[in-house]
Amino acid sequence: MVEKMKAKMVLDKSYKISKVDDRLYGSFIEHLGRAVYGGIYEPNHPQADEQGFRKDVINLVKDLQVPIVRYPGGNMVSAYNWEDGVGPLKDRPKRLELAWRTIETNEIGTNEFVDWANKVNSEVMMAVNLGTRGIDAARNLIEYTNHPGGTYWSDLRKSHGYEKPHNIKTWCLGNEMDGPWQVGSKTAYEYGRIAQETAKAMKLVDPDIELVACGSSNTGMPTFPEYEATTLDLAYDYVDYISLHQYYGNHENDSSNYLAKNMDMDHFIKTVISTCDYIKAKHRSKKKINLSFDEWNVWYHSNDADKKIEPWSVAPPQLEDVYNFEDALLVGSMIITMLQHADRVKMACLAQLVNVIAPIMTENEGSSWKQTIYYPYMHASIYGRGISIKPILNSPKYDSKEFTDVPYIDSAAVYNEENDELTIFAVNKNLENSIILESDIRSFEGYKVLEHIVLRHDNLKATNTMERQSVAPNNVGNTKLEEGMLHTELQSKSWNVIRLKRN
Ligand code: AHR
Repeated sequence: MVEKMKAKMVLDKSYKISKVDDRLYGSFIEHLGRAVYGGIYEPNHPQADEQGFRKDVINLVKDLQVPIVRYPGGNMVSAYNWEDGVGPLKDRPKRLELAWRTIETNEIGTNEFVDWANKVNSEVMMAVNLGTRGIDAARNLIEYTNHPGGTYWSDLRKSHGYEKPHNIKTWCLGNEMDGPWQVGSKTAYEYGRIAQETAKAMKLVDPDIELVACGSSNTGMPTFPEYEATTLDLAYDYVDYISLHQYYGNHENDSSNYLAKNMDMDHFIKTVISTCDYIKAKHRSKKKINLSFDEWNVWYHSNDADKKIEPWSVAPPQLEDVYNFEDALLVGSMIITMLQHADRVKMACLAQLVNVIAPIMTENEGSSWKQTIYYPYMHASIYGRGISIKPILNSPKYDSKEFTDVPYIDSAAVYNEENDELTIFAVNKNLENSIILESDIRSFEGYKVLEHIVLRHDNLKATNTMERQSVAPNNVGNTKLEEGMLHTELQSKSWNVIRLKRN
């Protein structure tokens, strides 16, 4: 009989990485495809509320406990006039939406989105247009949303039925401004300057806001990481975060290599941290710039279908990736990577939330359902609040096409001091074999195993549909605790959530 593979881990409550910022579990809704129209909003749907928002979707989003939702784009924001989306519906213009080549009806705009965010208990992370517009539109928008009253834009908000300011705290200074596809894309110098001046004006309107400057659109961009360095060099004193975006795909159908892609994410994060700290040193600054990973996910299944979509339609089914089980494993590993950097990655947005590369899907006039990736995201959001603990993990490793020394096991642990709870997230990337994980958790005295949730399927390509949740978690994990040693068998290709609590 072949002996089972073994991994060892030490978790000590004093090995603190950082408190996890709740906003690490954020998400994203763009005016794109059926995210807004037919996703969160469908006035003729039997489950629509008085504002036309789908209550079934509201409930699924609430179950995810999404703390912050980025809006309104994405690429879309770079040619968006926010004024089109406020005021009486009958006066709102239909526009050509240039990023995705659709028609934007503007039925939903800033105020309605803030209302929706309140309904799902979320904050809004608002992006301003630094593509076709700039300082003026941005300072007017923040006066409209955040100023109490007595000025043109704040009184206009009141006249639109919103007496109290929305007090939106987190703002993105444009979107992916390095990307040639972006309307109004900019060199690093052009962007750094406009980010600096827009940030200055916005903070004059409301000094309490936090601002995210764009970094590179992904690690493959030729100007990465110089784009971050130049932008921060110019805007350092005015911004608080730099953004990271990254999507992965299994184009070559090489699952072992695909599941290792969070190692690229880890390298990306480390490079951006170094870049931030280099500019900090250069400026002799005491201020620290943190990271906002405000677009991350798997995105590739829908690429071909999207090429066939007719331009200039309203809310076509764009970017509707149907996720399989291996995608859920990579999403779990990506979350683990971000938790391991919780001291610097303070915000993150799973892109996106409904219908568009999303954990939640809807049928027009029909039901809504959960994709495979819904589950690791939900587990992390619900159980991953607290202090990220540094796991000292010794796992067997493998090599893949692009990566060497890939640990079969990824793990992160979150300790919630108030609730006396410890949650261990772990992915076993071994496609054939289970691995025995022995964890020394002696510093968590008096803890007991509450449950061991497992997401697993024999078929890496298994998907969920509206009719059938083939990939769904269950509590079949076998974890035992004996004298501070946690004995776990992590099944081959599995996502695991081991929950412990002190009596
Ligand atoms: O999330 C889909 C798109 O991906 C966003 O609009 C853009 O910012 C990124 O390229």
